[in-house]
Amino acid sequence: MCGIIGYAGHRPAVPVVIEGLRRLEYRGYDSAGVAFSGHGNLHVVRATGKLAALEEKLAHEESVITPTCAMGHTRWATHGAPVERNAHPHCSNDGSLAMVHNGIIENFQELKVELVAKGYTFSSETDTEVLVNLIEERRKNAPDVLHAFAEALREAHGTYAVCLMDRAEPGVIYAARMSAPLIFGLGTGENFVASDIPAFLPFTRKVIFLEDGEIVRLTATTYEVLHLEDLRPKVHEIHTIAWDMQAAQKSGYRHFMLKEIFEQPRVILDGFAGRMHEGDVVLKELDALPVPRRLHIVACGTSYHSGLWGRHLLEHWAHVPVQVEIASEFRYREAVLFDKDDMVLVISQSGETADTLAALRAAKKCGVPVLGLCNVVGSSIAREASAVLYTQAGPEISVASTKAMCSQMLMLALMALYWARRNEGMTLQERRTTLALLAGLPDLLDAALPAMHQRARELSRKYAQTRNFFYLGRGHCYPLALEGALKLKELSYIHAEGYAAGEMKHGPIALIDPSFPTFVLALDDALLPKVVSNMVEVQARQGKVIALTNEGLDMHVEDIWEIPRLPSPLAGFVALPALQLFSYEVADYLGKDVDQPRNLAKSVTVE
Ligand code: AGP
Repeated sequence: MCGIIGYAGHRPAVPVVIEGLRRLEYRGYDSAGVAFSGHGNLHVVRATGKLAALEEKLAHEESVITPTCAMGHTRWATHGAPVERNAHPHCSNDGSLAMVHNGIIENFQELKVELVAKGYTFSSETDTEVLVNLIEERRKNAPDVLHAFAEALREAHGTYAVCLMDRAEPGVIYAARMSAPLIFGLGTGENFVASDIPAFLPFTRKVIFLEDGEIVRLTATTYEVLHLEDLRPKVHEIHTIAWDMQAAQKSGYRHFMLKEIFEQPRVILDGFAGRMHEGDVVLKELDALPVPRRLHIVACGTSYHSGLWGRHLLEHWAHVPVQVEIASEFRYREAVLFDKDDMVLVISQSGETADTLAALRAAKKCGVPVLGLCNVVGSSIAREASAVLYTQAGPEISVASTKAMCSQMLMLALMALYWARRNEGMTLQERRTTLALLAGLPDLLDAALPAMHQRARELSRKYAQTRNFFYLGRGHCYPLALEGALKLKELSYIHAEGYAAGEMKHGPIALIDPSFPTFVLALDDALLPKVVSNMVEVQARQGKVIALTNEGLDMHVEDIWEIPRLPSPLAGFVALPALQLFSYEVADYLGKDVDQPRNLAKSVTVE
């Protein structure tokens, strides 16, 4: 959630850090700050609000130094209000140390008691200020700051990605991670550490994905990766990132979200890459695992909706029984009853969602193989899963997840076909017919998206002032109804409820009146007659209905939105962008911050 970047090199460090933080803005934040060394001191400048406020303060910074080592932070409040005193970096009482931190130290109050008893004072309510003062205290009995840093981290329970600077070592940055993202970038005569790759991508493509329980000590020309437990050196593979920064730019669209909605044809193409052989699905990542006798899908938010959608395919095509659960519930279940040959699938775009990561760890403790479906290479979930499938969707910058869901749905379809091949749930011909439909999606969507965008814009103007919405769907459209409602509420702040269409008569229909419209997924499938009955029930109570449907179906509703027909459940690949575009256009029309909606972060790395 917070953005971190550290730099040691040959350039003026503060502009490098500020630009890096700007490329991490999508992670959501409410304050920012930088630290740099000069004249034997650590200088810290912080500001609430957007980065511009920090730059304003820096412009007035008296120091005439041009440091070549600095670190920066954008904070998304977890402990303490989003005010300047809680902004990072935080300094130790003696001013010798400065720290930036992403995550939650769960035992910080306990650690604070010891420090207060020893005379330490605190100006913030943050766990970070406790941690940096714990290092000052531990340094009194340690050979150097590295040992004190490691000892303090061993005492801290919880999650962290931290950078630390020591007044006595200008040009040196220490960093460490535990269940929060931190990546090391290797440049020429300069080195970086950051929460995410875009922060330093203009400078280097060579990265090391730090593991939990590791410390790195970096300077402009050197680096060491050490085990937290005993400070033994650790050798890491250096990866080269293929992304170009364009991939994280808007490419002419108004917002990242719109760009990413229109990227979905490309995402489907890329998802197929390396997964087809002689007209059939190959998923090498799964070859060493048995076909599960039962699959537990665990995820949050949009990824949870993907899992609900994927259940239909996995059960119908691969005959694998599936249960789908929200990660924050799964992780605290008293006893999840696993059978032999069960498998858990965790779905996470970021690969850093705390609840999903915790669910993965809980399942592994039960000895169950955990498959990860992620978009971010080297993310925590990707590295801790027994096996990982990457959605290959490219960076998803907009906080609202769009192309990630499309890519997850594709991977779930390929998994279902792959397991159907292994357990003969489908004939080769059936698989090939389905694969042909999936392979045709990019062209179909490329052709359909502009008209869908136009229809979304028309309807958004009509309904943008609405304060409440229902989204209804049955079968494979029920998860899509949930997703449509989530998109509308998280982007436009309009209250929207996704509901199983058949559930309306069990109470919720009491809410219907002319000011409470209903968006119904009425696609041409076996459940359509039932859905039509539900629409009539809504209309009988003067409720307005928008029917997302297929050409040539006889609908008598307030607004008809026809989209290209596909056999269910693949029709979801066409319905999904329609729902996304409607929410996008409503939010944009209302002037909302589409790519960074209020209160939201791209990756929820805290509970
Ligand atoms: C989606 O629009 C939301 N921003 C949110 O629900 C998101 O899907 C959820 O936090 C899960 O994120 P993940 O896929 O990175 O785990």
